[in-house]
Amino acid sequence: MTIKATLLASALIFSPLAATAADLTIGFSQIGSESGWRAAETTVTKQEAEARGINLKFADAQQKQENQISALRSFIAQGVDAILVAPVVATGWDEVLEEAQDSDIPVILLDRTVDAPDNLYLTAVTSDLVHEGSVAGQWLVDDVAGADCRIVELQGTTGSSPAIDRKAGFEKAIAGHENLEIVRSQTGDFTRSQGKVVMESFLKAEGGKNICALYAHNDDMAVGAIQAIKEAGLKPGEDIRIVAIDAVPDAHLAIANGEMNATIELTPNMAGPALDALAAYLADGTTPPKWIQTESRLYTAADDNQAIYETKKGLGY
Ligand code: AHR
Repeated sequence: MTIKATLLASALIFSPLAATAADLTIGFSQIGSESGWRAAETTVTKQEAEARGINLKFADAQQKQENQISALRSFIAQGVDAILVAPVVATGWDEVLEEAQDSDIPVILLDRTVDAPDNLYLTAVTSDLVHEGSVAGQWLVDDVAGADCRIVELQGTTGSSPAIDRKAGFEKAIAGHENLEIVRSQTGDFTRSQGKVVMESFLKAEGGKNICALYAHNDDMAVGAIQAIKEAGLKPGEDIRIVAIDAVPDAHLAIANGEMNATIELTPNMAGPALDALAAYLADGTTPPKWIQTESRLYTAADDNQAIYETKKGLGY
């Protein structure tokens, strides 16, 4: 009998004995492997499930929402006890979330939010995506100290909540600072390869000497852009300031090497808090808050980035 059936059989009276993590089968719909951070989240999620004795069914959506919706429907048909989903884009989830709810399968969002009524999911484990953008913008405001600065922006996947919110947060932070202006903004789809390609086009269109700073919605795009800046004969981190988000090991290394200036940490461990909340919910009906917020921390050249790189590179990235 699955945990869900056990709970229903007990007339929805939650019994601590009814749900032990070791009995759980959980479906995880992952976006894909577009970035180092994403790969780490996949690794950590598998580790967190294994540590709890959970049977995790993993589905890689290859960046396509339709694949995620199919995976969710397959998990529902299999009668899993719960579903974890990292939603590639924010819209278009209502119907499948209703189907999960009709089947009494709790859904937990990982790292990205959706534009759907919050009664359709149990909780969302994410960072404050707007705040991350604001921290990046404020870092730049402080770093240029009033000097004029023409900024180029590499956006994340179009329609994804981090692309929308990180853009909004950054714009809010630089608003009112007449010396700062975003002169180019385009998606690099959160990938290293597109970060490089789009940065090359920014450099060509603007002329490298006319770009003061790059704001990238993730580190992988920044690392790709660093390559483009070097190939254009400029010094990343000096000629062009670079601030991004994730704090993956390669970003710490780039900061240690003086080729990048700042990054904001996003923990790849969304699954730990998610599975803890799920265990409590299934054990005795404890309802988690709708938003379980993970921490965001700014790293700059003031930190020991070489040491952080050495520590982090073994952690699933
Ligand atoms: O949703 C989190 C974002 O998705 C990460 O910042 C990025 O690296 C990933 O692809």
